[in-house]
Amino acid sequence: MKQVGIESIGLYVPRYYVPLTDLARARGADPRKYTTGLGQELMGVPPPDEDVVTMGANAAHEALRDVDTDKIDTLMFATESGIDQSKAAAIYVHHLLGLPPRCKSFEIKQACCGSTAALQMALAFVAQKPDRKVLIIASDVARYGLVTAGEPTQGAGAMAFVVSAQPRILALDNEWGSYTEDVMDFWRPNYLDEAVVDGKYSIKVYIKALTESWKQYTEESGRTFADHEHYCYHLPFTRMAEKAHQHLAKINGGLSNPEQIKASLRYNRKIGNSYTASLYVGLASLLETSETDLTGHRIGMFSYGSGCMAAYFSGVVLPGYRDAVQPGRMREMLETRRALTIDEYEAFYLHELPRDGSRYLTEPHDTGRYRLAGVEAHKRLYEACAQAPQAAEPAHAVATG
Ligand code: CAA
Repeated sequence: MKQVGIESIGLYVPRYYVPLTDLARARGADPRKYTTGLGQELMGVPPPDEDVVTMGANAAHEALRDVDTDKIDTLMFATESGIDQSKAAAIYVHHLLGLPPRCKSFEIKQACCGSTAALQMALAFVAQKPDRKVLIIASDVARYGLVTAGEPTQGAGAMAFVVSAQPRILALDNEWGSYTEDVMDFWRPNYLDEAVVDGKYSIKVYIKALTESWKQYTEESGRTFADHEHYCYHLPFTRMAEKAHQHLAKINGGLSNPEQIKASLRYNRKIGNSYTASLYVGLASLLETSETDLTGHRIGMFSYGSGCMAAYFSGVVLPGYRDAVQPGRMREMLETRRALTIDEYEAFYLHELPRDGSRYLTEPHDTGRYRLAGVEAHKRLYEACAQAPQAAEPAHAVATG
């Protein structure tokens, strides 16, 4: 069968963040609980005129830089913080990006694993018709209550990637492991804006789902722990990946080598959870910040969606991947954000759009190329920003190496 995999990727993160040391002080917590215990440093915060559509469109704009958009046959939008029960976020993005009318566009949901379900479906689409390209967008706002245990594990961001039979970054292997179990570890009823979570239980289920999906993946592929040079995990917070990697090494009778996950954690530490996007943020972080030439290296990938469904799969980094990734672009995205005070963060958090159908125009903030201009008659109004976004003062550099 022809090689199928990831041809291009794009990242977008909100232009605003809260340092977790500031949040810890405001909540009366020891900052080391957040920075060491959870392994998080900064938390991305979307302004009121940004949502999963605008973040997703921004990420897709990056992923489509060198891709002929006329070839995009399908757009799959994975999110668990969607903005409509019926109309797919994909349709708004289809319009904002000017994709061809023949491009099928729809939304996919299974918590943080929706993006990986989309990837698996895209592989089948492309295998069936190799001249087709599929655009996948994973975009989410991770939102728990103010002053809750989940608050420091919030974040937001979007990843977009093009899947095709001309992969330039990662060729995906054919063997997958899956695990599904009906559990209530994390969910969000339709009437709530914040997730409900049984935090400690969610960590246990994550580890169980890793064990089970890895088991099937290794049975199908015949590969062992030693056959993967690097590992990427779903990243609710970076300590979770460290725990997961130690567990995987242990059940395979080996010792966990932190170097195998180190580069994949750098961006999440400065973004926070981005649900469907977070595994792929980890991949982007590995590809962009690893000082090692990753060509030919196999990466083990674990995707976890609460509720729960998980997937284990892998891919091999392709020669020339650095040219396709264009190192520096994603790092710049992270280094040009602005810090919010706790009062500003809470004002963003508490902002609500009217629910009575009245007309309301949002105040413009930095939202990249696209913004939510407002609402009218229960319709969301999106627009491309008139000016190219202005970079904020550089802050918080992302270390490589
Ligand atoms: N210095 C250093 N470390 C400290 C510390 C200090 N002063 N105080 C506490 N810690 C450590 C703790 O020992 C603990 O580490 P270990 O687990 O390694 O022992 C860590 O900091 C966290 O402390 P607690 O367990 O006491 O924290 P908590 O109970 O307040 O909440 C949480 C932690 C459960 C993760 C909570 O933030 C939460 O509910 N988050 C949302 C749910 C989540 O992210 N679940 C992950 C799996 S589910 C999933 O992956 C899907 C998804 O995206 C949501």
